[in-house]
Amino acid sequence: MAEDLKGCQVACKYSTSQLQKLCHHERFVCLDLGVKRREMHNFEVEYLCDYRRTFVRKRRMFNPTGELKETEFYLVKWKGYPDHMNTWEPRTHLRCVELLRHFWDDVYLELQKQKKTLVPDHFEPGLSSYLEQRARQRQSLQQWEAQINSVGGTTKRILVRNRVDLEGPPKNFTYINDYKVSEGISVTNVTVGCNCTNCLENPLEGCCPGVSGHGFAYSQGGQVKVKPGKPIYECNSRCRCGPDCPNRVVQRGIKHTLCIFRTENGRGWGVRTCERIKKHSFIMEYLGEIITTEEAERRGQVYDTQGATYLFDLDYVEDEYTVDAAHYGNISHFVNHSCKPNLQVYNVFIDNLDERLPRLAFFSNRGISAGEELTFDYNMHIDPIDVESTKMDSNFNMTGSPKKPIMKSSPKKRVRVECKCGTDICRGYLF
Ligand SMILES: C[S@@+](CC[C@H](N)C(=O)[O-])C[C@H]1O[C@@H](n2cnc3c(N)ncnc32)[C@H](O)[C@@H]1O
Ligand SMILES: [Zn+2]
Ligand SMILES: [Zn+2]
Ligand SMILES: [Zn+2]
Ligand SMILES: [Zn+2]
Repeated sequence: MAEDLKGCQVACKYSTSQLQKLCHHERFVCLDLGVKRREMHNFEVEYLCDYRRTFVRKRRMFNPTGELKETEFYLVKWKGYPDHMNTWEPRTHLRCVELLRHFWDDVYLELQKQKKTLVPDHFEPGLSSYLEQRARQRQSLQQWEAQINSVGGTTKRILVRNRVDLEGPPKNFTYINDYKVSEGISVTNVTVGCNCTNCLENPLEGCCPGVSGHGFAYSQGGQVKVKPGKPIYECNSRCRCGPDCPNRVVQRGIKHTLCIFRTENGRGWGVRTCERIKKHSFIMEYLGEIITTEEAERRGQVYDTQGATYLFDLDYVEDEYTVDAAHYGNISHFVNHSCKPNLQVYNVFIDNLDERLPRLAFFSNRGISAGEELTFDYNMHIDPIDVESTKMDSNFNMTGSPKKPIMKSSPKKRVRVECKCGTDICRGYLF
């Protein structure tokens, strides 16, 4: 019978591409179909979006009783292929350890929320659709994290984590690493710097802080030592000293690993430190668009209706300008308020000595443990400076007023925003 069929051709029910896919699926090299060993690895798992455990016949040459073994399968979304090309793959085909870890992180997190302890054989449609959304969210957060870190302004990495809900990167927000000065506002750059060979050891009068009538702000280790309310004058681009000068701290950027994370009690995003921070260390600047106070009033009314404000008054000498971090900002955009904060803000002058336009820098007001959330008081009060007690400054004129920047909410139609800082001295509202 078989001999009779010699030379006979039968049309294959499968198309070439289906056969190629089958080869890839079974990891079978077929040169006739153009499936080469090299190409086997072209399939990259983008993410895993479903799971099931079933009993399959053991693959043995001799298995007459049809012995079964339990096998785990994962639904794979392939990179570069549409969703309808997703395939179920046994665990043994997968080498994407990190994606598997993420997948199970999400599964356990969700089962925990549903108060379930056992992993089911098959996931309910609700769970698999949630896992897919989580996988996509993770991708967009990873892209955002990469974009943030490409902007600069930090020597360590900024991480982004959301273990709470499906919120992705904020819309209409651009990450920046310097002030964005609005049209019509001019910033004049400094024309003189110091000539010190060692700014910390040189007589203070000749160095930048002294010239402007202030004390040296930092200790040798870069900790701020002047009281809140006092301005900081750092060395600038005209100074003879190098980048390692102890009077260059804020300008060197963020030096701790920080994480933008989703808070669990409805405060949106927040910022925490991934490493221990010493007392009086520089943490970050408050950056945004510099706008006039009139413009801030207009924008404030809109922001108030949206229930969030990112306006920070620059009222060091007069109330002329405001920093608006709503649409342009850095990591400080995500720092929440606390009635018992661990950050303190200082006015800093570097390349621009215009007292109406200080830079705003956050320093830790105590030692902060790894994992702690970073917060500042949106309505902070600074005690008037005791000139006598800060000996170092007693030789100089106090040009800096003890006024401080304040997060601003529009005065018109002020609606009290409930504070959820959770501290024992919570005053109950933000503004
Ligand atoms: C500068 S933003 C902080 C980042 C913000 N959580 C986010 O997701 O973009 C200020 C807004 O965060 C929220 N927020 C900050 N601290 C809070 C607190 N202690 N209690 C309640 N909401 C807070 C309020 O909506 C506030 O208007
Ligand atoms: Zn100097
Ligand atoms: Zn210097
Ligand atoms: Zn200098
Ligand atoms: Zn509070």
